[in-house]
Amino acid sequence: MQDFNYRDGQLFAEQVSLTDLARQHGTPTYVYSRAAFSRHYQDYADALGDHPGMICYAVKANSNIGVLGLLAQLGAGFDIVSVGELERVLRAGGDPNRIVFSGVGKTPAEMRRALDVGVHCFNVESEAELEVLAQVAAAEGKVAPVSLRVNPDVDANTHPYISTGLKENKFGIDIKEAQRVYQRAAELDSLNVIGIDCHIGSQLTELDPFVDALDRVLTLVDELAEQGIQIEHLDLGGGLGVTYKDETPPPVSEYMAAIKARLGNRQLGLVFEPGRSIAANAGVLLTQVEYLKPTEHKNFAIIDAAMNDNIRPSLYQAWQDIRALTPRDGGSSDDTKIWDLVGPVCETGDFLGKDRELNLEAGDFLAVMSSGAYGFTMSSNYNSRGRAAEIMVDGDQAYVIRERESVEDLIRGEQLLPNS
Ligand code: LLP
Repeated sequence: MQDFNYRDGQLFAEQVSLTDLARQHGTPTYVYSRAAFSRHYQDYADALGDHPGMICYAVKANSNIGVLGLLAQLGAGFDIVSVGELERVLRAGGDPNRIVFSGVGKTPAEMRRALDVGVHCFNVESEAELEVLAQVAAAEGKVAPVSLRVNPDVDANTHPYISTGLKENKFGIDIKEAQRVYQRAAELDSLNVIGIDCHIGSQLTELDPFVDALDRVLTLVDELAEQGIQIEHLDLGGGLGVTYKDETPPPVSEYMAAIKARLGNRQLGLVFEPGRSIAANAGVLLTQVEYLKPTEHKNFAIIDAAMNDNIRPSLYQAWQDIRALTPRDGGSSDDTKIWDLVGPVCETGDFLGKDRELNLEAGDFLAVMSSGAYGFTMSSNYNSRGRAAEIMVDGDQAYVIRERESVEDLIRGEQLLPNS
């Protein structure tokens, strides 16, 4: 997280003091770094170099239109999974022709909208979806560009909830069935087969699973070519991991070099759908300690951010570093204790960190690090908590890119029943 550093005893995002932001805007608040987002995207763009292809940022990781607009300006494409994400990308100025549409449950209405705006490709995940897409496109008098997402059955070696490329996962078309489904796609006039796609999981920290999946997919590409089905691009999904604690994922350049090296002399464009590796270490979640509750068994620090703001620790046992914005030094070491950092939500699973050694007092501000991906986008209104504000720092400037939700926001669209 090179854009989040201590200076004179205070944590900064670029040139902005996070304590100042917390005081000014309140907590919980997500704070992102423009420089980090840009550099992480640029690492992919540079590694792709002049190889034909696209870096399609996975919108689900962080879908704030401020973030999407920044990436669109840098030339990114986008990987979307719903019409909601599609509309966000369009509002942010994204180029429809640089959008790939993934997801196992696209509705006909979503397909129509995507055809109308002219997305680059539909990543089709089942035979049933293929047939519906063909019908929708025919009815619209359009030809839908398609790629089949194949499930290569490789173990991504990651948390079971974020592993997607095993045959027991719901995603993609079994690679053994894929030839037959490609033949069917090639028969349908309203479809144009252009690609092949796979995504085996998220937070991968080794190259081997990617390379194994790629080898299986390339075998299929060669078999398809023999049958007269020419694949133009290979979409390897997202999945490259990041450092939350001591993980050592390969750098993007190494990952990309390994993939390019496997292509041989096949004329294949490359598409990538990175989410976490662009967003996670570009953001933090600011929170304030409300109460300290030391007990005989455990020391609880009750903070004002909760599982509704960041569900990753509860859902995936995810570990994210938690740091004081202004660490207290000079105090005796006795002030440092082992704390569980828990939120105000009425669930035992409501924690952001456990067993953290910190020197705390009520009122302290903390940062939950590496929160830029799957933080805000997975947040909810559980316990009728308004969702957090989001701020983008750019040099010495800070821009509110999403206001904190108000009570009015919370009940928007709800109705009392008429008096009986
Ligand atoms: N493409 C597809 C088709 C995906 O399903 C995903 C993520 C991505 C790209 C982006 O993957 P990434 O580069 O971010 O690993 N909420 C979980 C992660 C779920 C990932 C779902 N799919 C978490 O917080 O760890």
